[in-house]
Amino acid sequence: MLLEVDGLDLRYGATHAVKGVSLNVAEGEIVTVLGANGAGKSSLLKAIAGAVRPGAGTIRFDGKDITGRGAAARVRAGLMLVPEGRQIFVSLTVEENLLIGGYTRSDAEIARDVEAVFDRFPNLAARRGALASVLSGGEQQMLAVGRALLSKPRLMMLDEPSLGLSPILVDQLFGLIGDLNRQGLSILLVEQNTHMALEIAARGYVLELGALVAEGTAAELGADPRLAEAYLGATDDAA
Ligand SMILES: Nc1ncnc2c1ncn2[C@@H]1O[C@H](COP(=O)(O)OP(=O)(O)OP(=O)(O)O)[C@@H](O)[C@H]1O
Ligand SMILES: [Mg+2]
Repeated sequence: MLLEVDGLDLRYGATHAVKGVSLNVAEGEIVTVLGANGAGKSSLLKAIAGAVRPGAGTIRFDGKDITGRGAAARVRAGLMLVPEGRQIFVSLTVEENLLIGGYTRSDAEIARDVEAVFDRFPNLAARRGALASVLSGGEQQMLAVGRALLSKPRLMMLDEPSLGLSPILVDQLFGLIGDLNRQGLSILLVEQNTHMALEIAARGYVLELGALVAEGTAAELGADPRLAEAYLGATDDAA
């Protein structure tokens, strides 16, 4: 297994956001984590990325226990998070945003890899010297993914990448995720777009109020009533 998460537990004060979650991602796999608002999806990814510290549990990446390592060390190891809401730097240019993605690298090939990202995203190449603030929402999401690619990840974690995108851009984005996967990138995808996520992922997990309530192949989860219940339950809470 490339990523093995065992018994991960995370609290923010009185909020028990992640309750003993175990999951894994094999080399070359696309795995999805599904769940309603507040289910703990982002908290789980942040803990795996090292942005927040879990109260209990272990995280192993490529066979090594990285639970105690900092976020930058995890990026160097090949574990990269594209956070919710993109978080690109709107006061920097498109190209500068990409270069930031290579900050943990010291090799001389960063410039070449920036060009490879521009080859993949002609819309970004056309605006390389422009401020990232001029990009559309979809282009900003592509920039966030492009920036993440600059760290040469082995596992890319995407937190609701389709949020706010038009259906056409969602299709493009999922096409990109599929391409990257076929080139060997392993992917852990958090989505509220259950249908799209189960179409692209081999396996998935369902979180409800911080706890895993179902796991299985995409086909199994698509037919599992607990998936719908996890979303309906949250609607009830919100009402
Ligand atoms: N920094 C924080 N401080 C306190 N509570 C937090 C913090 N971040 C998240 N929470 C709480 O932890 C729980 C899980 O939140 P989280 O953002 O992980 O859920 P999510 O599944 O990503 O939701 P969404 O679909 O809305 O992005 C929620 O109850 C949320 O209010
Ligand atoms: Mg979230």
